[in-house]
Amino acid sequence: MKFFVDTAEIPAIAELNALGMVDGVTTNPSLIKKSGRDILEVTKEICDLVDGPVSAEVTATDADTMIAEGRKLLEIAENIAVKVPLTWDGLKACKVLSDDGAMVNVTLCFSANQALLAAKAGATFISPFIGRLDDIHMDGMELIEDIRIIYDNYGFETQILAASIRTANHVLDCARIGADVITAPPSVIKALVSHPLTDKGLETFLADIKSAGIKIL
Ligand code: G3P
Repeated sequence: MKFFVDTAEIPAIAELNALGMVDGVTTNPSLIKKSGRDILEVTKEICDLVDGPVSAEVTATDADTMIAEGRKLLEIAENIAVKVPLTWDGLKACKVLSDDGAMVNVTLCFSANQALLAAKAGATFISPFIGRLDDIHMDGMELIEDIRIIYDNYGFETQILAASIRTANHVLDCARIGADVITAPPSVIKALVSHPLTDKGLETFLADIKSAGIKIL
């Protein structure tokens, strides 16, 4: 399973990238706003830092302007994936940009039928939002399962990019189901390392190191 980082914060991306934890990056208008940076500048910096796909989202809602914006974003770097919303116009833009050979990430997916449409429109990635479905007491993970089954049934190559990941359990369940990619904030990726028994075990080892005076260097 690939790990994308869901942020536009350069230091956080650089830290995880140095550990080989970054297969790509996703951004959205809210993350760009949070960064306080110009979208074109910060996206270029991210693309320079990371080898994998970097999703940058269009701002328009009509297909023609989305396509124009997508083409401008694609000039930033070769690893840009144009992110479009899962609307009828977004699907039109997806088809045109995908036919041009661009990577397209169709975002704001909340149903398996929407994911089916995105695959048929040639999406490289579909972004189902788990946490936001959980927020309204629906089962976000069930959506990932349904899309996996449907894409496998028909051999769609669109990659399932599970988004709105909030917890370590979301990551684990996505890996069990076989999501191709998860995108998560740096805090969630870093939280995957934590286990109370690791902390407790290390505490005991450190006490024994101290009392026995064990030294290596
Ligand atoms: O990139 C979109 C997505 O990951 C948003 O997550 O937590 O704002 O629902 P969240």
